[in-house]
Amino acid sequence: MSNRIAILISGRGSNMLALADAVSEGRIPAAEISVIISDHADAPGLALAAERGLATLAVERKGRTRVEHDREIIVRLQEQRVDLVCLAGYMRLLSSEFIETFRHRILNIHPSLLPSFPGLDAQRQAIEHGVKWTGCTVHFVDETLDGGPIIAQTPVPIRDGDTIETLSARILIEEHKLYAAAVALVVSGEYEIAGRRVR
Ligand code: GRF
Repeated sequence: MSNRIAILISGRGSNMLALADAVSEGRIPAAEISVIISDHADAPGLALAAERGLATLAVERKGRTRVEHDREIIVRLQEQRVDLVCLAGYMRLLSSEFIETFRHRILNIHPSLLPSFPGLDAQRQAIEHGVKWTGCTVHFVDETLDGGPIIAQTPVPIRDGDTIETLSARILIEEHKLYAAAVALVVSGEYEIAGRRVR
């Protein structure tokens, strides 16, 4: 059972707070948040986490290669005996060493119904493509961009007149619910990964 959770952020941290709420409210049973790590010290989410009394750490990426930066994060995670790493708006690709060290123990949330619209600006991509439905996806992280095995998805409609902001806000409400449910499933251990399929 994976129960010591680290959350990696780069920005405002609303998914991080949603996971912290879910843990403190018992919606992710038998789990604890070990540490919130940001790749820069001025991420707004880091201050919000500290206000909540969560342990925080900035591991600055500046001046270091991806491999060097990730090695320090791996050491920090191992010091904390972290079982599960949740990416929540973490804006840096992980090295293969990081992915290998935590294989099938790294989760990410993405604001589209993958495999549609991976990468940056997923909400903009969906609007520009003209799809009627988009949504959010929680998946395991592998070496592909937003391409690892899918754990859970929620569809969200695109309405006439939606802007990137209105659509993003509608998706974000679902992200917060979906991420907590997906982490609860993984922490429970009651799933299996068969190829690309999680069941
Ligand atoms: C979310 O839309 C998430 O899906 C994406 O980045 C955004 C992060 O938002 N990966 P927040 O920092 O959790 O508020």
